[in-house]
Amino acid sequence: MSVAKNIIRADVRALSAYHVPDATGFVKLDAMENPYTLPPGLQQKLGERLAAVALNRYPVPSYAALKAAIREHMGVPAGFDVVLGNGSDELISIVSVACAKPGASVLAPVPGFVMYAMSAQFAGLDFVGVPLKPDLSLDRDAMLAAVRAHRPAITYLAYPNNPTGNLFDLDAMLEIIRAVGDTGIVVVDEAYQPFADASFMPRLSDHPNVVVMRTVSKLGLAGIRLGYMSAAAELLAEFDKVRPPYNINVLTEATAGFVLEHAEVLDAQAAAICAERTTLVAALAAVPGVRVFPSAANFLLLRIERPGLTGTAVFERLLQARVLVKNVGKMHALLDNCLRVTVSTPAENACFLAALQSSLNT
Ligand SMILES: Cc1ncc(COP(=O)(O)O)c(C=O)c1O
Repeated sequence: MSVAKNIIRADVRALSAYHVPDATGFVKLDAMENPYTLPPGLQQKLGERLAAVALNRYPVPSYAALKAAIREHMGVPAGFDVVLGNGSDELISIVSVACAKPGASVLAPVPGFVMYAMSAQFAGLDFVGVPLKPDLSLDRDAMLAAVRAHRPAITYLAYPNNPTGNLFDLDAMLEIIRAVGDTGIVVVDEAYQPFADASFMPRLSDHPNVVVMRTVSKLGLAGIRLGYMSAAAELLAEFDKVRPPYNINVLTEATAGFVLEHAEVLDAQAAAICAERTTLVAALAAVPGVRVFPSAANFLLLRIERPGLTGTAVFERLLQARVLVKNVGKMHALLDNCLRVTVSTPAENACFLAALQSSLNT
């Protein structure tokens, strides 16, 4: 027997590691990154700011200045605070661990963000996935039935949803939040909020069981790994106990603080991506054999609907053309023959469109 076999949980040994393909030399449209960087003048100033950071010291774990900047720039309601995470991935993990009472469960629509189920498993929580309807809208009745049957400790509603890109119906979400009541929390995951004209953040004070979770990743700062969540103080205080004390490193802290001083740059980039989304949707709608789903995010979900041609075949032809998208067809039956593609710069979108068109015609 090997040491790993002796000590590592069987369910962990049975897992495959989260796969991130090597994108070197590809037009990278698989991870919903913002394609734009900071303007050179700001890069220079950021470099100076970072050079002055005390790398020899641990961060001050209250992160008071960064939290204040986030509250101010990100529309956190008066009287509400935030807890910071090393990406919202870490926040999902913190919430899972904090709520992992024996027998507790996690509920989420599927297909959804994979880390909800994975973090639940790592923390020893049962995961209950409720399929979306065939049109990828939220199945309100099935969700309400699952809330009654499982009384989940955590319900995730991604708003907009990944990988489908749509915003769920607000009334259905409110009904689910009411049905959960004080027996669980509802995490409204707003990773794609910069590209949507909807948010639960202004509603926080109406819902003591709601946690609004966000990230700066899709805004152009995926590399610094920073997420934040807001909720009633009573909940945040408990989550904060589970957070590793120095989870935001000093370079991330300084970078985020600097970029928030120039938040208008990120806002302009998000607006440019939304405009490009409109252009790309129109172009894709004109491609025979491709169905494009409505999106309030910085990516589009497509279905290949050409007889005799699978989504996987198109994915592989795109790879040959050095364009990397996400093949989500195997994630869930509802996503059969579907691909997910990041909305990028006009040049990269044109490159994707040309490669898609030729992969449909070969
Ligand atoms: C819905 C959703 N939530 C959270 C995340 C994680 O984001 P982060 O980069 O902050 O860990 C993602 C990343 O793709 C996502 O799609």
